[in-house]
Amino acid sequence: MSKPKDPKRLLQYLDTFFGIRNNIKGDPKEGVNFTLETLTYMTSHNRADQITQMIVDKMKQQKLVPFGVFDATSGIGGNTLSFLENPAVQWVVSYELRPERRDMLKRNVAMYNLAKKSFVPDGPFQGVPEKYKGVVLYLDPPWLPEHIKGHESKKEDYLLSGIKIGNFTLEQWIQSCKHCAMVVMRVPPGYRLGQIPGFDITSQLLKNSLVIFATPRKQLTPLPSLTPITKSVLSPEESRWRKGLRNFLRETLKSILPKEENREQMLSNNSMDTWAVCFTYESYVAHIGKNYEKI
Ligand SMILES: C[S@@+](CC[C@H](N)C(=O)[O-])C[C@H]1O[C@@H](n2cnc3c(N)ncnc32)[C@H](O)[C@@H]1O
Repeated sequence: MSKPKDPKRLLQYLDTFFGIRNNIKGDPKEGVNFTLETLTYMTSHNRADQITQMIVDKMKQQKLVPFGVFDATSGIGGNTLSFLENPAVQWVVSYELRPERRDMLKRNVAMYNLAKKSFVPDGPFQGVPEKYKGVVLYLDPPWLPEHIKGHESKKEDYLLSGIKIGNFTLEQWIQSCKHCAMVVMRVPPGYRLGQIPGFDITSQLLKNSLVIFATPRKQLTPLPSLTPITKSVLSPEESRWRKGLRNFLRETLKSILPKEENREQMLSNNSMDTWAVCFTYESYVAHIGKNYEKI
């Protein structure tokens, strides 16, 4: 039987978790960028890069680069940072359930100046919206029953089937993502996934974890739309900005479209997607609030 890990030992190896990214040497601080518990869950720098490369290679084979990634269970960002740094990745939406970890994740992304391609919604993962076709969904779920903390765990505690994220099993999340190019997950070696009709499953052992790739059998044609992140995952700042734009247009359109119903048609949610692009400088990045007015 294995012993619980000594989390303090991990502090000596901080560089193997953070290290250099985007030519920046990180200077992570306990309580700001990580806690001992989150460090035990964090995918190390090299391991994360190996997983990213496996995904990029598969996406290249399918001629689906560049692509977007939904990192459903980001923790403090071991995988997110690696995805963000890779030029084949267009953007990363990173969910984390716990607000304090989410804040650390945001600080870690900022520490490496990688915020441009990143978006961290304020809430748990709720699935990949249908409009994001051809993206990669990455799942790095907790491997332990809820009552066991990472730094108090032993290998024998790992779950080998039935892992859930929120209310749904991994199998159910995979089923919900037929519009994705692939769903990739990192689970304990020996993990048994149930039957998932319509998906091809392959796996690769990577040191002390198993990386599973679930690819929908139906080929994605035409090439995926690389729609930038829009309303379904809007930050509060962007929602405010869109509301302001809609009010501005409502007033401005009065002189051209006297009938209110015609104006409102021009301001539907779908139309607002187009207006937002027209009123947005090409370098605009949703969550850091840079738009044409400020440039
Ligand atoms: C194994 S850790 C992920 C580690 C991460 N890949 C890293 O390298 O730092 C799993 C994370 O999933 C989070 N989580 C659990 N349920 C979630 C949910 N429904 N939505 C988003 N995150 C969730 C947990 O809080 C935990 O931080």
